[in-house]
Formats: sequence, structure tokens, C-alpha cells
Amino acid sequence: MGDSFDAFVENLQEQIFDETREAFGEAGFQRWRNPLYRGPMDAPDSHARVTGECGDTMEIFLKFENDRVCDAAYLTDGCGSSTVCGSFAAEMAIGRTPDELLEITGDAILEKIGRFPEEDHHCAFLAAETLQEALNQYMVAGQKLK
Ligand code: FES
Repeated sequence: MGDSFDAFVENLQEQIFDETREAFGEAGFQRWRNPLYRGPMDAPDSHARVTGECGDTMEIFLKFENDRVCDAAYLTDGCGSSTVCGSFAAEMAIGRTPDELLEITGDAILEKIGRFPEEDHHCAFLAAETLQEALNQYMVAGQKLK
């Protein structure tokens, strides 16, 4: 009984892995299994939280050094797709200036992942929107200091 249950669970897990790899491609699958840059982050220089039309929330945290992102993190209560998108958005932000951050759109995130389920493209747009809002917060804070 124990052995057959273990085998059942193992098979189920393999099936889920295969389906996820098929949906996200290898890069997205690896990120789904190991969601790098998952937050939260202590004392970020900027932070944004945006809730998408689907009802899921994405948060992005940024730290800057010499006007470049030196660290980034994300949090989401959304699906696996939003986890993958938040993780890639944070990765893409690192090392960029504010001007360069503007280039991180939902399409750019989708291009970076490579393959992504059509019905979940909005997750990438939510991640990009949240990143742009975090940039906005950083710029507003900078204006206040002047
Ligand atoms: Fe809502 Fe992915 S389904 S962000």
C-alpha cells in the first residue's frame, strides 16, 4: 500500500513536471522550480504592489546603488506563471539604470522566458507594471530629496 501510494505520488509529480516544462519551456520550468529573487526584501529603496484584473497581487522591491539597481526581489500570491514572471522581472532589473528599466515591458519578459502559455501572458504584464510602479516610486522619492 505504502509503496504503491509513493509510486502514485511520484508519477503524479512527474506528470506535473512534464506538463509545466511543456508549458513554460526549460528556462521557465527551472525558474518555476527554483523561483530566484523571491522576496521580501529588507529596507528597499522602492517598493510597489499592484493587483491585476485577475485578482492576484505582485510586489517588486528595488535597491539602487549609484543610480543602478543592485538588488531586486518580488512577491506574489498568484499562480505559478506569475511567480515565473516576477522572478524574471526582478532578474532583468538588476544592473539597470532607471532609463533602462523602462525597457522591461511585459513583452520583454515574455521574450526572455521564451515560451509561455498564451492565457497567462497577463502575468508578465502585471510583473512589468509592478516593476514600472516601483521605478516610479524611486523617481518620486528622488524628486522629494532635491
Ligand atoms: Fe493572476 Fe497570473 S493569473 S497574475
